[in-house]
Amino acid sequence: MAEGQDKARYVREMFTRIAHRYDLMNALMTLGRHQAWRRIAAGMAGPTGGGLALDVATGTGDLALALLAEARVRRVVGLDFAEGMLRVGREKLALKDPTGRVSLVVGDALALPFPDRSFACVASAFLLRNLADLGQGLREMQRVTRAGGRVVALEITQPTLPGFSAVFRWYFHGLVPWLGGLVSGDREAYTYLPRSVDRFLPPAELARLMAATGLTDVSYRRLGLGTVTVHVGSVPPA
Ligand SMILES: C[S@@+](CC[C@H](N)C(=O)[O-])C[C@H]1O[C@@H](n2cnc3c(N)ncnc32)[C@H](O)[C@@H]1O
Repeated sequence: MAEGQDKARYVREMFTRIAHRYDLMNALMTLGRHQAWRRIAAGMAGPTGGGLALDVATGTGDLALALLAEARVRRVVGLDFAEGMLRVGREKLALKDPTGRVSLVVGDALALPFPDRSFACVASAFLLRNLADLGQGLREMQRVTRAGGRVVALEITQPTLPGFSAVFRWYFHGLVPWLGGLVSGDREAYTYLPRSVDRFLPPAELARLMAATGLTDVSYRRLGLGTVTVHVGSVPPA
């Protein structure tokens, strides 16, 4: 699998190719559960002081919309480096955010185009394993979050339930690439998906990395029989 700049280019081009079928594949692959997971992640991000939230790697905007549903969030910025994903997101927001409280911007999660401490909370869904530099991505999320705000990351993880993990492996490595090929016409993208999860950190290690980045009170919650995990940490006072 590519690294560094090559990985970033590979990931951007891949999401641009599959953007038109991304939402449908998410619904099929997760048997409709993906939006509930984003709602839980958004709830865990819920800013105490209220205000502006950031969805890093917003893709087609679903986590941005989940954040907007949080009572204390007034506006959301959704950032992504794949224009094709944002294009689908803009069409969705025209229907689901008629008052225009979500703004979509093109940008890189590894060099966020915002001043320090701009956001009440910062969240991402299904981003971290795609990053060319995970540590830098976490540092950037922390940098733009104000003191006391939360950094939240929802990501696919390997389940550990005896019996189920083997079934999931068969499903994820066997059926998903086949289904992805059928639905999106891009089997390669849905072969990259399970491989990127295999290569990613287990939840306890990601929690340690988040704490080493400087976040406090880091914890995580496993969902979907352990197939996804939400990590949360707080930004300490300056
Ligand atoms: C699996 S999709 C997740 C999209 C969305 N967060 C969701 O919940 O469906 C991963 C997204 O991360 C974006 N991405 C990956 N690396 C990025 C980076 N360095 N900067 C900005 N966006 C990035 C991709 O373009 C893609 O839209």
